[in-house]
Amino acid sequence: MKEQVSTGMNRTGVQMSPFDTAALERDITSLMPPASGDPAEIARIRNDYIADADQLGSMPPPGTVKGMVATGTSALMGNEPQLLLDKLGERLAFERTGTRLYDALIDKVEALERAGSTTVPLPILIQIRDEEAQHFALVAKAIQSLGGDPTVQTPCADLAGIESAGLLQAVTDPRTTAAQALHAVLIAELADNNGWELLIALAESQNHDQMAADFTAALDNERDHLRFVQEAFETAMLGGPLTGRS
Ligand SMILES: [Fe+2]
Ligand SMILES: [Fe+2]
Repeated sequence: MKEQVSTGMNRTGVQMSPFDTAALERDITSLMPPASGDPAEIARIRNDYIADADQLGSMPPPGTVKGMVATGTSALMGNEPQLLLDKLGERLAFERTGTRLYDALIDKVEALERAGSTTVPLPILIQIRDEEAQHFALVAKAIQSLGGDPTVQTPCADLAGIESAGLLQAVTDPRTTAAQALHAVLIAELADNNGWELLIALAESQNHDQMAADFTAALDNERDHLRFVQEAFETAMLGGPLTGRS
């Protein structure tokens, strides 16, 4: 079903009030005193804050003997075990959010389906949602295999939470259409694909071959997710039949 955009009482553009716009343009200098900061000033203040800032967070020291041994051995081999654990924490946070994004999308599609205003196939959404949850469990297991703690909020996990907050807001907003929600999920899937690719390269570089193989299977899922969401979004925007998960 093709996306419908309604015409309503939107008054955000200047064309809605030509007389006021003409007056504004005439008196612009008296109505709007010059801004106190120019771009160079703004950049200078940002620079000061950056120079004074702490980091976004830190990694904890290993909390178990297994963790100490694994981290120490890996570091002796020239690896950066904390970097891998940080990125695993990021993936864990993102897969958790991904599961919640699909939960919210499924609720929306169910509601819109009852109103007869969408045809996004629910069984595929449910399957993808379950795969995101499986990916979350896979990453938690990988962190534990390194002696790490999956409950840690790592710096990159913190950042992933901030980045994806807007996506969750977009999908859970009761006013967004299926197409608008799918667009938010599409952003998540693009980031998801790239995230797994990077994690596989990192695992391989630190000789975690089994981990890299497990993650490659997850990346295959993610490529399917991306293809499906792209197609579902385009179908919702342009109309025409959805051919299903390819
Ligand atoms: Fe995912
Ligand atoms: Fe995904």
